[in-house]
Parts: sequence; structure tokens; C-alpha cells
Amino acid sequence: MKHTSSIEVQRVSKRYTDDPEVAPALDDVSVSIRHNEFFTLLGPSGCGKTTLLRSIAGFEQVTSGSIQIGGQRVDQLPPYKRRVNTVFQNYALFPHMSVAENIAFGLEMQGLEHSAIPGRVKEMLALVQMEHLARRRPAELSGGQQQRVALARALAPRPDVLLLDEPLSALDLKLRKEMQVELKRVQQEAGITFIFVTHDQEEALTLSDRIAVMSAGKILQIGTPNDIYERPQHRFVAHFIGDINFLPGKLKRCAQNGSLFQPEGLPVEIPCASSTLDAGQVQLAFRPERSKLVDPSEPHHLRGVVEAVLYVGTATLYQCRLANDVKVMLRESNEGATSARSVGSPVAVHLPPHACLLMEA
Ligand SMILES: Nc1ncnc2c1ncn2[C@@H]1O[C@H](COP(=O)(O)OP(=O)(O)OP(=O)(O)O)[C@@H](O)[C@H]1O
Ligand SMILES: [Mg+2]
Repeated sequence: MKHTSSIEVQRVSKRYTDDPEVAPALDDVSVSIRHNEFFTLLGPSGCGKTTLLRSIAGFEQVTSGSIQIGGQRVDQLPPYKRRVNTVFQNYALFPHMSVAENIAFGLEMQGLEHSAIPGRVKEMLALVQMEHLARRRPAELSGGQQQRVALARALAPRPDVLLLDEPLSALDLKLRKEMQVELKRVQQEAGITFIFVTHDQEEALTLSDRIAVMSAGKILQIGTPNDIYERPQHRFVAHFIGDINFLPGKLKRCAQNGSLFQPEGLPVEIPCASSTLDAGQVQLAFRPERSKLVDPSEPHHLRGVVEAVLYVGTATLYQCRLANDVKVMLRESNEGATSARSVGSPVAVHLPPHACLLMEA
């Protein structure tokens, strides 16, 4: 019987040394990953992504806490007794073996009946669309093709969970985008749980059912790509995912139906959606594409001057300096012939209430 939760990580900490001066690599991490979920660990270099993945796989012993896979506690079990498989960044195919032999290797190790192996290899080759290249050696394949073989090899023993540690980072941008689509398709067709590690926020948003954003050994927020982008709960999360502007200021009134924010050094009050924060010093965050550049003669807006104009094809980005000296980036999509504003021209910025994210100062 399948459990509703595939992986249960409870209060896991990991220290590589006894030195109390060194911060733990994982600091009281809890996360529950569902069956068939495409779950991504996202965070900057050194935040503990690989450590968490290796702890789930069993290559690292956790210092405290527990890990369950499919309802069974595994944190004391060796890697080969956990029904997980890993695809590493350097996918290390066996160079002297053909594509088909590489895929079959794990099946032999697993002790699958000999007569069943060719059928399973064929099925895996079809899954990653590599049937026509079964006899090639890894050196005769492109980077993306090698990546597919690594994926097929890891999926062949039918693990409950596949752990993928930055599997696309060796590929160039175009191939990487192609492989993203491929990964998602394979995950859905194979119907297994993927735990995917990346420090590329766009990749995380595109592929994931849910994302855990990590920083310094902790998980700061877990949510769908939409949650994480639209409702970041920490300044770090807001900043790490997409572009965002911050304005320091005061939250003046908080009520069920909305709040008023006064930016530091600007004589305006901005109506925001309701907030759970107390009145006082806060930060208002907003995405460049959620604000509107309006005529400077309109009242109640943030006023400033355009300092730089960046044309990026689908949109134009304006870097503006507000009257309180805070720099903000604004994005206007290029629909039809909009009149571009030039450097030095005065602008006013309108923030609709739903665009305003209030955060602790
Ligand atoms: N074997 C080890 N011994 C001691 N410290 C380690 C070891 N492996 C990792 N660390 C430390 O633990 C912390 C987390 O490392 P980890 O490899 O999990 O980060 P990461 O998020 O995967 O980073 P990256 O994006 O660079 O791969 C880092 O401070 C790292 O220096
Ligand atoms: Mg890593």
C-alpha cells in the first residue's frame, strides 16, 4: 500500500564537525514530500541542499531527527536498503559500456531476473527517447543524450523516489531548457517522486509542484511556485526568486480590509491589501512588473526620475530613483507602440494594493 506521504523529514540537523563555531549544515529541517510530487530544494551555494539529499539517500548520517520513506524509518539504514536512487551532477556513465549496458547495470546489481532485463532496458530507452542510440558508447553522445541515459539508468530499478542533484548544470542553456521539459515528462510518465536540487530559480518555478527555499541550513518557506513568487514570507525568499523592490517605511493602519503604508521620506500613503503585521516599521516589497508607470501629474503616487532604460525585447525596464533616493526597477511590457520614457524624465509609480507585499523590517 502506498502512503500519502513519500518522504517525511522531521527535525533533522546535520553537523559535519563537533566544533560549535561551525554552523550546522542542516539546522532543524522538517519537510513532508508527497507521492509523485516534483519537489525542488532551491537555495544559494552552501545552504545545505546536497546535504539534505545525501541524508535522504543515506550517504550521510544525520546528527539528530528522523527520516521516513514510504512510512518506514530509514535514517539508520544503509543507502542500498532505501528505495531511492540518485542522479548526480556529473552523471558518471561507464565509458566502456553501451547505452543499453549502462541502463542494465543497475538491474543486474539489483538482482533482477536475467530474462526480465532486456524488456526493462527497452522500456527505459523508450521513456527517454533513446531507442535508436542503444548501442552507442557515452563518448559518442551529446551532453543531453548522456543526461538522458543517466536518468534512464537511475529510473530502471524503479525506485520510489529519485533524487536529482543539479542534474542539468553541465548543459548549455538551450539543451538545459529541452531537458527540463523532458524531466517533467519522464517524472509524470514514470509516476514517481522527484526531489530535485537547483540554485536556478527559473528552473525551480518551471518544473516544481512545490519548492522549499533554503538558506544557511534552514528551510525558510515551502510552497507552490505561485505561493513562493506571489506570497514570499521572508525578505530572503522574495529576493532570491525573481526581481523585487523594497521600500522601508511605516505601516500606519492595519484592518481586515486593508492597511496603509507610508514610505520613509515620501509624502504619500499607499493602500495595501490586509496584513498580519503589527503597525510600525516594515518593508514594502513589489515586483517590477506589478507596478505601473503613470503620468507624474497624478497625485498619491511614488515620484521619481528615470535613471536608466533597458530594452529587453518583450519589455522595457526602467531603473528609477525615487524622491527619497531609493532606487527601484520597474518593468513595462512592450505591447504595441508605447512611448518609451527617456533617461531624466520624471515619472510616478502606481502600486495597486494587491502588488504590495508587506514584510518585517
Ligand atoms: N563533507 C563535508 N565536510 C564538512 N563540511 C561539509 C561537507 N559537505 C558539505 N559541508 C558544508 O556544509 C554546508 C552545506 O553544504 P552543501 O554541499 O549541502 O551545500 P549546497 O546547498 O549543496 O551547495 P552547492 O549549491 O554549492 O552545491 C556548507 O557550508 C559546506 O561547506
Ligand atoms: Mg550541492
